[in-house]
Amino acid sequence: MGSPNLEAVDWIWHDGEFVSWNDAQIHVLATAVQFGTSVFEGIRAYDTPNGPAIFRLDAHIRRLFDSARIYRMEPPNFTPDDIAAVAKEIVLKNDLSNCYIRPMVLRGYGAPGLNPLNSPIETYVAAWPWGAYLGEDGLAAGVDVCVTSWQRAHPNTFPARAKAGGQYVNAQLMKMEALLNGFVDAIALGPGGLVSEGTGMNIFLVREGVIITPVLDGTSLVGITRNAVIQMAKDLGYEVQSEPVPRESLYTADEIFFTGTAAEVTPVRSVDHIPVGEGKAGPITLSLQKYFMETVRAENEDSHGYLTYVTG
Ligand SMILES: Cc1ncc(COP(=O)(O)O)c(C=O)c1O
Repeated sequence: MGSPNLEAVDWIWHDGEFVSWNDAQIHVLATAVQFGTSVFEGIRAYDTPNGPAIFRLDAHIRRLFDSARIYRMEPPNFTPDDIAAVAKEIVLKNDLSNCYIRPMVLRGYGAPGLNPLNSPIETYVAAWPWGAYLGEDGLAAGVDVCVTSWQRAHPNTFPARAKAGGQYVNAQLMKMEALLNGFVDAIALGPGGLVSEGTGMNIFLVREGVIITPVLDGTSLVGITRNAVIQMAKDLGYEVQSEPVPRESLYTADEIFFTGTAAEVTPVRSVDHIPVGEGKAGPITLSLQKYFMETVRAENEDSHGYLTYVTG
C-alpha cells in the first residue's frame, strides 16, 4: 500500500563530506530519533535542456534555516550558501537529473533527556530519484481524497511554519487513515474547523473561475509551490484569492488541486466520495499544471528566477 521503497543512490553528504548511502547512519538514541528534533526540506530538481535545474533552491534553503532557527538548531558550521552549494553537488555527485533533494538538520546522539541543547547538531543532504508523489494516474486524472478526522495543530503548539520531523507524526496519522479507508490522501481541517492543507501539500479550490486558497493562519506550512502557483496563476491572468475556507466549500468547488514540491500540481477529483465538479481534473487545474511543469523544465522563460542550474 502506498509508496514503494526509497531508491538508493551512491552518496549522502554529512557535515562536510560525502559518505556512502549505507553509511549515513545515526544512533538509535539520537535526540532526533527519540524526540523528533529534526528540520528538513524537500526540493526537486528537473531535467532541462541545460542540465538539471533545482526549483526555488534559495526559498527552500531559507525555510530550512528558518525552521532550524525556530528550533534553536541552526547548523553551527554551515551557511545557507554552503547548503545550497551542497544541494547542487549532491545531484551531480549522484549523477541524478529528475530527483528529490532532502537537506536535514538534526540533533544527534548526546543528551539523555528532553533538553536537546547539548545534543550535537548534524547536517545531512540526500537526494534520490522520485516520480509523481501521488502517482502518474493521479497527476493526470486527479486523486480521490477524504477530509481526515485528525486536525492540524493549533497555532503556538507545533510551529506550522517550521518543517520539523516531529510535526509529521500528525500528517502520518492522517495519511494512514486515508490510505486504510481507500483514499489516496487527506485534507486536514485546522483547529477552528476550517480547511488548512493536505498532509504534505497545500490546497486550492476553483469556484466560478476564481482560484481560492486558505489563508495562512498558522496551521499550515507556507508552501513554496503554493507561492509559485499563485504567481503563475496571476501570470496566466486568473484571479486568485486567499480566504478562510469552510469544509463544505470542498464539496461545492468546481475544481480542487494540491500543490507541493512532492505533489507538484495534483488535481483532486473527489472528496469524501463526492465528485469535485465533473469528477475529473478541471481545466484551470490542468492549465496551471501544464504551466508549472513547463516552468520547472525550463520550457518557459524563467521570469521569476525560479531555477538554479546544478552546473551553473
Ligand atoms: C505539511 C506540508 N504542507 C505543504 C507542503 C508544500 O510545501 P512546498 O510547496 O514548499 O513543498 C509541504 C511540503 O513540504 C508540507 O509538508
